[in-house]
Amino acid sequence: MTLVYERRGSAAQQLADILGPATRVVGSLDELSALLAGNPEELLVVLGAGTDLADAVRFAVAHRITHPALGVVLLREEVDATVLAEALRAGIREVVASAEMLTVRAACERSLALSRLLAKPTWASVPEPEATAPEGGEAKIVTVFAPKGGCGKTTLATNLAVALSAGGAHRVCLVDLDLAFGDVAIMLQLPPDRNIGEAVSIVDRLDETAVRSMLTRYRPGVDTLLAPPTPADGEKVTRGVVTEVLRIARSMFDYIVIDTAPAFNEQVLAALDASHKYVLLAAPDIPTLKNLRVALDTFDLLGFPADRRLVVLNRADAKVGLTAADIARILRTPIAANIPSSRDVPVSINRGVPIVADQPNHPVAKAVRDFAQVSLLREPATAARTPGRRLFGPRKQK
Ligand SMILES: Nc1ncnc2c1ncn2[C@@H]1O[C@H](COP(=O)(O)OP(=O)(O)O)[C@@H](O)[C@H]1O
Ligand SMILES: [Mg+2]
Repeated sequence: MTLVYERRGSAAQQLADILGPATRVVGSLDELSALLAGNPEELLVVLGAGTDLADAVRFAVAHRITHPALGVVLLREEVDATVLAEALRAGIREVVASAEMLTVRAACERSLALSRLLAKPTWASVPEPEATAPEGGEAKIVTVFAPKGGCGKTTLATNLAVALSAGGAHRVCLVDLDLAFGDVAIMLQLPPDRNIGEAVSIVDRLDETAVRSMLTRYRPGVDTLLAPPTPADGEKVTRGVVTEVLRIARSMFDYIVIDTAPAFNEQVLAALDASHKYVLLAAPDIPTLKNLRVALDTFDLLGFPADRRLVVLNRADAKVGLTAADIARILRTPIAANIPSSRDVPVSINRGVPIVADQPNHPVAKAVRDFAQVSLLREPATAARTPGRRLFGPRKQK
């Protein structure tokens, strides 16, 4: 059931119409809190544009602890950066213009999907990795993630892999975990014949030889583990398969760079579980920043430590009316690196050669190399994720 608080009758009716029959409109925030206390499994609250911002913030702050899986979507007549920043700080998942009905519905669907994932009890039974440092000789795993497509994940992952190999001095494996729409093969012009899909049928007897047989060499020092050629094959690559492949690949490489789908799906979670660093991509536009802020909150909820996150701003110099201060305010996180925007990036992609390899002196190549050097190569390998107990512990009842 979706719970809606909207004081103005006509707006409430309109919301109930677009959100469907499983919607209940309530007349006060106290009533809403009482309902939630009695129904801890509820996953979505929509606060109408008539809600006072301070009340909405108080409500979200109160419920993010008692109902961590609950999503709060806030409607406003106008969405501006200040409201957005304040709302996201309070843990509100989405702020949407109330007049944009399709966007409202889409935001609610996104929030519900995330809540279902967060509430999924099966996660509680997945054994947590030991929070100890990997032994010497084991790869450092770096996952490149963004909650939105088109941010430059695959571009950064491919260039990072080349930068980390330092001309063949390090062994790097680039893993394509965007299993439905993997682009690594296309970006590097590699045949996808060998791919991670082969691990599915032999997951219980995977070893180095088997993993090696799935790799495609890109250049000395850079191997790739590509995505299966069809989304149907990609679906068969479960969390368990990803975990096992990474466990074995770890002893074969110095660095593993993982490109991901723009979603907290089970394969991405397996990658994040195994990772020493999460590179989170931002771009200087409000929807992307907002989604990244939500993703950072989700990282908190899932217990992925803040000190392993590196936020990289792509197309940092794009003239879009957002200042560095706006971006910092919305994200509440320092930016580890700024990558400029350049049309040479898509040109390099069309040629099938990452810009770091093609034009090493290009400002984009330099930015990626500096980031790799400062944030990844010099960092000692530390433990993977610490358990996110908060999410799965017994819920506090009011
Ligand atoms: N710094 C940049 N400057 C210009 N274009 C870029 C830059 N980074 C990425 N792009 C372009 O943006 C598009 C999306 O990048 P991609 O890496 O496929 O994103 P994602 O993997 O996040 O969906 C590509 O066409 C790429 O060429
Ligand atoms: Mg991609």
